Amino acid sequence: MPARPHAPALMAAAGLAAALVVAPLTAAAAAPTDRAAAPAAAPAAALADPDIDVAKVRAHLDRLSAIAAANGGNRATGRSGYQASVDYVKATLDAAGYTTQVQSFSTSSGTSYNVVATLAGTDPSRVVMAGAHLDSVSAGPGINDNGSGTAGVLETAVQYAASGQRPRNTLRFGFWGAEEQGLLGSKAYVASLSAAEKAKIALYLNIDMIGSPNPGYFVYDDNAAGNAVRDEITAWYTAKGIPSEYIDVQGRSDHAAFRAAGLPTAGIFSGAETLKTTAQAQKWGGTAGRAFDPCYHRSCDTLANLDTTSLDRGADLVGAIVTRYAAKDYGTTIPPTVGNLLQNAGFESGATVWTGTAGPITNSASRPARTGSWKLWLGGNGSAGTETVNQTVTVPSTATAAALTFWLRTDTAETGTTVYDTMRAQVVDGSTVTTLGTFSNVAPNATYTQKSFSLLPWKGRAVTIRFTATEDSSAQTSFVVDDTAVTVG
Ligand code: PHE
Ligand code: ZN
Ligand code: ZN
Ligand code: CA
Repeated sequence: MPARPHAPALMAAAGLAAALVVAPLTAAAAAPTDRAAAPAAAPAAALADPDIDVAKVRAHLDRLSAIAAANGGNRATGRSGYQASVDYVKATLDAAGYTTQVQSFSTSSGTSYNVVATLAGTDPSRVVMAGAHLDSVSAGPGINDNGSGTAGVLETAVQYAASGQRPRNTLRFGFWGAEEQGLLGSKAYVASLSAAEKAKIALYLNIDMIGSPNPGYFVYDDNAAGNAVRDEITAWYTAKGIPSEYIDVQGRSDHAAFRAAGLPTAGIFSGAETLKTTAQAQKWGGTAGRAFDPCYHRSCDTLANLDTTSLDRGADLVGAIVTRYAAKDYGTTIPPTVGNLLQNAGFESGATVWTGTAGPITNSASRPARTGSWKLWLGGNGSAGTETVNQTVTVPSTATAAALTFWLRTDTAETGTTVYDTMRAQVVDGSTVTTLGTFSNVAPNATYTQKSFSLLPWKGRAVTIRFTATEDSSAQTSFVVDDTAVTVG
C-alpha cells in the first residue's frame, strides 16, 4: 500500500488548549494534489447482484458441523449445540458490523433464542428481512436442514456489510430458534413486534434447506402478498437457465408467522423427504424415485449431505434478492438526517466545519469512503506524526440517550502484536480529555465497522469530538473514518 499522498500540516499551534480553538479548515487550504485531481463522484449506479462465495458459505457449515460434533452430534433446541450455534452466528454478525440482538422465548425444552441483526437504512419506514432457522432436530447435526439456509443468509449478511453499501430500507436478518418444535422462534419474533413495526416489513424472505443432495429448485407460492418477489425469484432462475417450480410449502417454515400477520413473504427450498419425480429428474438431474434429501431429519444430515451447486445457487439467490430489496424504492420519502448533531458528518463537504490537521479529510481514491467519496483518512503516512480533527457539539442537558458513532476501517504495513500506530476517539471537555476508544495497527480491519460510545456523561456540556492518530517513523497504518454521528434521545 502506498502511503497517504500528502504530508500532515498543522493548521494551528499544537497543544491541548490550542486544539480547542483551531482555525476552521478550508477546502482550498486543505487541498492536496490528489484531491484536486480526483474525478467528480460518479452518480449512483444500479447495484449488481453479488456473487455469494460458496466456499465461505461452506466455511460456515464447517463451523456448524464442528459445533454439532463437539456437542453430542446435534444443534437442537435446549441443547448446548444450539447455544454454540447462537454464539457463532452472533459473533459473525457483530464482527461484520451489524447491531445484533439475542431474543429469548420459551419452549417446552426451556428457553431458546433468536439472533436478529440489523443494518439501519436511510429510510426508516421500510424493513427488508431474510431469515433461516438455526436449530437442528436432535437426531443429527442439521447441515442441510438448516445449516444450509443459515450459512447462505449469514454469508449474504457478511458480504452485504463488507460491500460498504448503506441500505435504503433497513436490512434485518433473523436466525430463528425452535423451528423444529413448531416454528416457535419466528412466531415469538413476530408476536414481539408492535403493529407499527410489523407494518414496516416490506419483505420476509425465508430460507430453509438450499443444499439438498438430490436437489430441486422450488419457489414458495403460498402468499399472494409476496407474488412480486416470487416472480422476481423465478425470473432470476430463468435468467440463469435453471428450471424452477412453484411449491406451496403449507406453512411448514418460518415465513408462516409473517404471512399470518399479513406481510409479504417469499422463499426457496431444495426439497426434503418428498421423492423426486421422473419429470423433475429430467429437468434438474439427480435421481428419480429418491428423496430430495434422504437424510432429512436423520443423523446422516452431515457435510456429506450437501449438493454444492444447489448451495451456491441458493446463496446467490439470497444475495440477489436481499441486495435488490434493500435498495428498493417503495415510494417513501427519505427524511433528512435527524438527530445528528455533527455537521458534514460524512465529510462530503470536505473539511467544512471540522478543525485541526489539514489533509486527512480527503476524497483520495486510494482508500474507499464508506458512503460518498470523502472520508477522514488519519495516518497512512509511514512517518512519525500526529493528526487531529475536531468538531464541537453540545449534548442536550435533557438527553436520555446520547452516542458518538462512526465507521472505521484500518489497514497497516505493520506486522506483529506490538502497538506502533494508534487512533483515538476522544471527548474534550474544557481541559479534560477522555479517550472513548483506542484503535491501533494490531488487528486491522479493512471492512468498515461501526463504533459506538455513550456521550451521556457529557449531558449539558459543549464538548469537542476529536479523532487523533499518531504514527511512528515507519510502516504506515491508515485509520479511515466515515459517517460520524452524535445522536441524542
Ligand atoms: N421446515 C421443514 C423442516 O425444517 C423443512 C421444510 C421447508 C419442509 C419447506 C417443507 C417446506 O423440517
Ligand atoms: Zn427440519
Ligand atoms: Zn428446516
Ligand atoms: Ca463519506
